[in-house]
Amino acid sequence: MFRRFDAGEAEALADFLAGEPWPFHANATVDRAGVLDRVRDGHYDDTYWIEVGGVRAGVVRLFDLGDETPMFDLRISGRHRGRGLGRAAVRWLTDKVFTELAHVERIEATTRQDNVAMRRVLRQCGYVKEAHYRRAWPDADGTRHDSVGYAVIRPDWQSGGTTVPDFHDGD
Ligand SMILES: CC(C)(COP(=O)(O)OP(=O)(O)OC[C@H]1O[C@@H](n2cnc3c(N)ncnc32)[C@H](O)[C@@H]1OP(=O)(O)O)[C@@H](O)C(=O)NCCC(=O)NCCS
Repeated sequence: MFRRFDAGEAEALADFLAGEPWPFHANATVDRAGVLDRVRDGHYDDTYWIEVGGVRAGVVRLFDLGDETPMFDLRISGRHRGRGLGRAAVRWLTDKVFTELAHVERIEATTRQDNVAMRRVLRQCGYVKEAHYRRAWPDADGTRHDSVGYAVIRPDWQSGGTTVPDFHDGD
């Protein structure tokens, strides 16, 4: 289901990313030529296809893997959403990163406040809301959305539980 992207598949990745809009991303449309440039630059080195029956249904790119807090970019094609792929992908990458990279303490994800599906996936995968950034996410029309930050920490991943941030610490 998860297969590492190979630079020889650059055209397929460009087709996938430029093939539909991604309204919850800072750049809702992806420039095909830009993808090809970024493949050459190594931008997609830690990227995985999410495949269903041999069909490319999604893509997940891991980044900042050398840091204590890596992040990821997850995109499921519109016709494959709502069938559990997003949740499976976040569970898979979380297990993979914590298992393979001993220096990683946290994995973070930031999304737009109104990205209900992504927020649901994150919560279901043990990620906890840590931050709320008011009017931090301008869209293409100039409308400013709030954004929210989630993370899973290694002890929670190990125990299967969730601890909450100490929000009520005097402010
Ligand atoms: C966000 C995304 C990755 C989720 O992937 P997915 O495969 O659709 O997710 P899943 O099917 O695993 O789960 C989605 C959950 O959200 C729920 N959901 C989806 N849209 C919803 C909505 N508008 N309101 C309430 N719940 C919603 C689904 O019911 C499901 O929950 P359930 O399984 O408990 O019923 C996918 O929609 C996507 O790629 N979106 C566009 C790109 C994007 O926003 N990426 C994240 C950027 S940070």
